[in-house]
Amino acid sequence: MATTPDARPHKGEDRKRQVQTIFSEIAPRYDLLNHVLSLNIDRRWRRKAVDRLEVPVGDPEVRVLDACAGTYDLALELTDRAGFEGRVVASDFARPMLVEGKEKVRRSPIWPVCGDSLRLPFADGTFDRAMVAFGVRNLADVQGGFQEFARVLRPGGRLVVLEFTTPPNPVTRRLYLFYFHRILPLIGRVVSGHPWAYTYLPESVREFPGPDELAGLLESSGFDGAEWSYLTAGIAAIHIAWKSDPAAQG
Ligand SMILES: C[S@@+](CC[C@H](N)C(=O)[O-])C[C@H]1O[C@@H](n2cnc3c(N)ncnc32)[C@H](O)[C@@H]1O
Repeated sequence: MATTPDARPHKGEDRKRQVQTIFSEIAPRYDLLNHVLSLNIDRRWRRKAVDRLEVPVGDPEVRVLDACAGTYDLALELTDRAGFEGRVVASDFARPMLVEGKEKVRRSPIWPVCGDSLRLPFADGTFDRAMVAFGVRNLADVQGGFQEFARVLRPGGRLVVLEFTTPPNPVTRRLYLFYFHRILPLIGRVVSGHPWAYTYLPESVREFPGPDELAGLLESSGFDGAEWSYLTAGIAAIHIAWKSDPAAQG
């Protein structure tokens, strides 16, 4: 499918407007398309991401940030777990996404906040954990986002990033790229009614740094270490980054 100029990932402030526009416009169909286009694998990925967050159970003081939270699927994956007694702040700058998901979080310990992940309205060290699913690829400044997540995490805190990647195996890669660049934009256009939002998606993955580069970026953004692993043949990856706690090290 031809890439329209609108679908090419923009830079700087234009990128911010582009991303806000996309998600505001596709919000009513976002959940449906997510599960259809990924054949429901996205649910398994979010489960794994929350596993890797290692959130303490039974502690009502635990505070978790879900950045670029969208319609709250990642936040709900955590708050629906037995033993979770803390609070999740779910922030996103596309208000229609937060509004679309609000029925899902009516009786949950999730606090929606409309705001930019590059300028989070929270004091340093506010959160014990932070997580972001399919969000960082959309940031106008990826390193700026990582620095902001590191800032709002306390020492000893942990960040989990779930994001698309391109499969490393050449055969899988060819099949996947055919689906991602030819089939997915068609289905996305028909179901969402949006002319190019689902062309932007593979374009944004194409220009996004690979997992090793992303881990390096995390380590140069205020985290003391980072590691990553592929999911589902390398269609996606989970990065974990941590801040050490000098007090805990004695
Ligand atoms: C692909 S959706 C992911 C939503 C959700 N995390 C999930 O797993 O389904 C990306 C979300 O990131 C949000 N987003 C992108 N850039 C942002 C920014 N700079 N600040 C806040 N939210 C942002 C978008 O509005 C959108 O809701």
